[in-house]
Amino acid sequence: SEAQRQRSKDLYTLLDDANQYYQLQLKGSPAAIEYLKGRELSGEISKRFNIGYSLSGWDHLLNHFKGSYAEQQLVDSGLVIKKDDGKIYDRYRDRIMFPIRNRKGQVIGFGGRVLGDDLPKYINSPETTVFHKGRELYGLYEARINTQKLDRIIVVEGYMDVIALAQFGVSYAVATLGTATTEEHIKQLFRAVPEIIFCFDGDRAGKEAAWRALENAMPVMQDGKEIKFLFLPDGEDPDTQIRKIGKDAFEENYQQADSLTAYFVENLHSRFNITSDEGKTRFLKEAAKLLTKMPDTLIKDQLVQRLSDMTNVDKKVLFQREISSNNSPKD
Ligand code: GTP
Ligand code: MN
Ligand code: MN
Ligand code: MN
Ligand code: MN
Repeated sequence: SEAQRQRSKDLYTLLDDANQYYQLQLKGSPAAIEYLKGRELSGEISKRFNIGYSLSGWDHLLNHFKGSYAEQQLVDSGLVIKKDDGKIYDRYRDRIMFPIRNRKGQVIGFGGRVLGDDLPKYINSPETTVFHKGRELYGLYEARINTQKLDRIIVVEGYMDVIALAQFGVSYAVATLGTATTEEHIKQLFRAVPEIIFCFDGDRAGKEAAWRALENAMPVMQDGKEIKFLFLPDGEDPDTQIRKIGKDAFEENYQQADSLTAYFVENLHSRFNITSDEGKTRFLKEAAKLLTKMPDTLIKDQLVQRLSDMTNVDKKVLFQREISSNNSPKD
């Protein structure tokens, strides 16, 4: 409705004002500036990503904005929290602020990081009428406007990874917002580029995130689209890695990245012992479960070929017995 449209318009205005406000607070906060320097972020890159700071204290934003916006609008924006007893206070306090933009460049939410080791390390905006984290990708708007011709996108875990990569000239990175990569994320990326490289942290959580990304990519794969997996050394994330090895070496490593097929097969192979008949059966069952989600493509044919070679099970049999069985009543 018209009223609804007006309310979202006001919400965008409010979030944009907040973005300006947080950037202004950063200028007057030596501790926050020191923190960013300690993370080796340049002033230029901080400006490009509009990094800001929320003051410590419970009501700085609230007091600054209450003359311009209704209390309910501040709550609806996610920037202010209202407790059951009616007390209201700023959600973000004493945090480095990262504005999150939608594809049009409108600010729709924020991530906020503590300066020290307190928990939670990051706070993200809650779901609002304009912010849906399963849909949005941090850095996509910036990647589009700072890359002449976008022909691949690298998906990383964190704000700091996106920004560090951009500082070193890898300006085509995006991050999911503390959630798994969804089908919707991947569909959206494939509308923009033919190639996605997943590059998560070199730890257990990063490996799990990579497998989740593969699972969610299966249903949306098409011929002509490609996904790859770049695994970092233990303990590194894209931020620390590019600072260590630089842009050229970082990009050269794409050649060592695993294809969907390679990662699929390697991961399953590491989980099942296919030298026994029983292991082989479980391996194929697991493979089939994933393959049923994939549309008919050349990539799927290649995967089936690889699985058949590995297990010495005829492709036709494999396909009929295992893959189609998942759709049949007997399973
Ligand atoms: P730095 O420690 O600043 O280098 O950040 P990082 O991006 O390396 O963080 P990490 O690898 O721990 O987490 C990756 C991403 O997950 C972050 O950028 C956040 O989006 C999200 N995340 C991490 N910690 C939290 C948390 O405590 N709460 C929420 N909601 N999200 C988090
Ligand atoms: Mn991590
Ligand atoms: Mn990090
Ligand atoms: Mn990390
Ligand atoms: Mn490999």
